[in-house]
Amino acid sequence: MNNADRVVALVPAAGRGVRLGENLPKAFVPVGGTPMIKLSVDGLIASGAVDEIVVMVPPELVESAVALLPGSVRVVVGGSERTDSVRAGLAAAADATHVLVHDAARALTPPDLVRRVVAALRAGHDAVIPALPVVDTVKSVDGDGIVTGTPDRAGLRAIQTPQGFAAEPLRRAYADPALSATDDAGLVERLGIAVHTVAGDPLAFKITTPLDLILAGAVRAGERQAV
Ligand code: C5P
Repeated sequence: MNNADRVVALVPAAGRGVRLGENLPKAFVPVGGTPMIKLSVDGLIASGAVDEIVVMVPPELVESAVALLPGSVRVVVGGSERTDSVRAGLAAAADATHVLVHDAARALTPPDLVRRVVAALRAGHDAVIPALPVVDTVKSVDGDGIVTGTPDRAGLRAIQTPQGFAAEPLRRAYADPALSATDDAGLVERLGIAVHTVAGDPLAFKITTPLDLILAGAVRAGERQAV
């Protein structure tokens, strides 16, 4: 990377979030009084490592997102699958040389983690993802729930966001209209590009279930007490 490079962070926030059991789309659910999407965007801004932020939201929430977020943040309409939302963000970020894709649901991601990902892009890696060791044993099962294998835990990692990419391979990966993935790096891997890991952070967990929401609220309350 050099000074002409432009790092654009895409924040997919168009999910319905049914697992959370709230009435609002997940990214708009408050954690300690602040909607997740605002917390995620604030973390990206605080990192000082991104030049522009584009968020992708459901069509009926564009106005709310514009009102909620700093004026410098661009708000575009997402799609019915996460990949559609990321594709909409990529289209809005035509001048990006590097792209971070960061789930709005990882609302407590520390700015340091964002900086680690961008530093690895600056060091020349084309694909960078935050990774944590897996604490549970992981098994594969068949359709009847019968265990078919137990991969060695030492060689497994849980992957978080932001995931960082040189824009060109990410655009190439997303050019396939039929693709579907829960993980952007998986698409880039399929192109044969080496994906580099940096240390993740437990605070970058994805707020998915009602329990996650309680935990995230407790973390924020603890932060406020510490100030
Ligand atoms: O549903 P899941 O937790 O995997 O979603 C991860 C992220 O992708 C969330 O921030 C969610 O808002 C976003 N998403 C999206 N468009 C969709 C589905 C999910 O932007 N259609």
